[in-house]
Amino acid sequence: MSLNKEVKKITTNTLLKMKQAGEKIAMITAYDFSFAKIFDGAGIDIILVGDSASNVMAGHETTLPITLDQMIYHASSVVRGTKRCLIVVDLPFGSYQGNSKEALNSTIRIMKETGAHAIKLEGGEEILESVKRIISAGVPVMGHLGLTPQSIYKFGTYTVRAKEEEEAEKLKRDALILQEAGCFGIVLEKIPAALAKEVSANLSIPTIGIGAGHDCDGQVLVMHDMLGINTEFKPRFLRAYMNLHEQITQAVNHYIEDVKSKDFPNESEQY
Ligand code: KIV
Repeated sequence: MSLNKEVKKITTNTLLKMKQAGEKIAMITAYDFSFAKIFDGAGIDIILVGDSASNVMAGHETTLPITLDQMIYHASSVVRGTKRCLIVVDLPFGSYQGNSKEALNSTIRIMKETGAHAIKLEGGEEILESVKRIISAGVPVMGHLGLTPQSIYKFGTYTVRAKEEEEAEKLKRDALILQEAGCFGIVLEKIPAALAKEVSANLSIPTIGIGAGHDCDGQVLVMHDMLGINTEFKPRFLRAYMNLHEQITQAVNHYIEDVKSKDFPNESEQY
């Protein structure tokens, strides 16, 4: 029997046991009550309230504009829709880079105002002090290495990271530093599969990959991408499980037709 089916609530400890048992961890993003309720009911292990909300919910080009207040709004809606999965919330750009006190204050707001279980932040050694301070306050922290979208203007492109040895070596060091600091897991975004395999094997905490190959301990996808709501974004790593864009368009076309033709509402659909 899988740990996912066995436990009443997924905790950071469940994730560690999953890694030890070789059971892969399934994570998906969500930003609102209704989708979170469906994903939790379907048995997802982790919901990430990602700062990708900036892109898929608000229509911004990058994740940079989303604010802490907006993340809190999304996260508290997700928490109200869920009973069982672990909920991780992204600290948005500008809410933790200043110093570790700012990072802790932003984390405390998320924990108090949303009821979520953990936070995620991007970076390695450069954010170590913040990671340690948040963990020492009793809040579980997930790291995020590789392509870190909050630094997009430093990278200049969303292409695969850590292909060169120097960057790969830094990523390996950062992963160990984050584990040593007490992180319960690390997202590895858009890095070569061989590097993700090596990092995952060297860590005792789980890695969650996105565009990082099948040897990570788990996978994460943005809900709008995996449900085919977002049709313009088609990176190689993405598997779309539905074409919801097409299905919704057909349904709305049908509804428009029914309204225009006076077919809707009919006798039984009125008072
Ligand atoms: O914000 C987000 O959705 C993320 C995932 C892509 C890992 O950080």
